[in-house]
Amino acid sequence: MQPWIIVLIVVAVLVLFMLFLMVATRYKKCPPDKIMVIYGKVGADREGNARSAKCIHGGAAFIWPLVQAFTYLDLTPLSISVDLKSALSRQNIRIDVPSIFTVGISTEPTVMENAAERLRNLKMNEIQELAKDIIFGQLRLVIATMNIEEINTDRDKFLEAISRNVEGELKKIGLRLINVNVTDISEMAVAAESAGADAISMINTLPGMCIDIRTRRPIIRNNTGGLSGPAVLPVALRMVWQASQKVKIPIVGLGGISTWQDAVEMLLAGATALQIGTVLFTDPYAPIKIAQGLSDYMDENGIQSLSELTGGVKPW
Ligand SMILES: Cc1cc2nc3c(=O)[nH]c(=O)nc-3n(C[C@H](O)[C@H](O)[C@H](O)COP(=O)(O)O)c2cc1C
Repeated sequence: MQPWIIVLIVVAVLVLFMLFLMVATRYKKCPPDKIMVIYGKVGADREGNARSAKCIHGGAAFIWPLVQAFTYLDLTPLSISVDLKSALSRQNIRIDVPSIFTVGISTEPTVMENAAERLRNLKMNEIQELAKDIIFGQLRLVIATMNIEEINTDRDKFLEAISRNVEGELKKIGLRLINVNVTDISEMAVAAESAGADAISMINTLPGMCIDIRTRRPIIRNNTGGLSGPAVLPVALRMVWQASQKVKIPIVGLGGISTWQDAVEMLLAGATALQIGTVLFTDPYAPIKIAQGLSDYMDENGIQSLSELTGGVKPW
């Protein structure tokens, strides 16, 4: 064989080998928990406009050397805790809506491209913050269109409205809403009951703060502390009432009970037993007075057992 033919064969084999290597190294597979974003020269969309990126989920793609590059977007869901406070409802009543949103980058074709454009350079915690801002805004908007009654009793409608509004806005930056969970105190009670609790005691104190206007220092060395006493009674009644509708185990009601009338209210809200604390600082005889007051109230109203009062409130 002529030497030039041998050289030609060697060169051809080398070229083929290089070609194979190039294809092998530039053929990229997309893992199931990622979106592959190919950018550079990626062609045009249906209207003929140049696309900023081509996104694929699953499968594989060939990345042309020099003209294309690629990166991945992580599909791991993000859990976002949204502690919305004092949002105005339709009747101008303020409401707290603590909730947990789970969002993730969308795999819907057009939305994936939004993600590539808006989120490619962001870290997970930055995406989380961005989503949180959007969710806060949309949640306030939804609450402003609903009455307190609707929000509290028609949870499905509330969640549907949240999902609709939040989802639409999230799509604009390439995210999708996976789950919404409005966390309220009754769900905590349900969690305790499901975990095997025999009873629930609620509500303890509410976090509070006092400031010395002369020194501008918080009065308590801890800066914040538990607020108890009469101020917390309405909150305690509301929480006991809400929880008592969700659980079967007894609820021990406490928080702000100072008089026998407060005690009756707490029983009517759904408590089976009561505790008192703060009032003892001002009146050590309060337990005796409360017991006597309850006894008189029972006699006057023909009540045989205090348990007849438990949960007896008649909501409007
Ligand atoms: C001086 C003081 C100390 C308290 N210490 C505790 C405590 O150590 N642990 C706790 O769970 N609750 C503590 N509490 C909260 C009470 O158990 C109770 O939940 C709260 O005071 C609300 O009820 P009340 O309004 O009848 O006092 C304390 C309350 C007071 C006033």
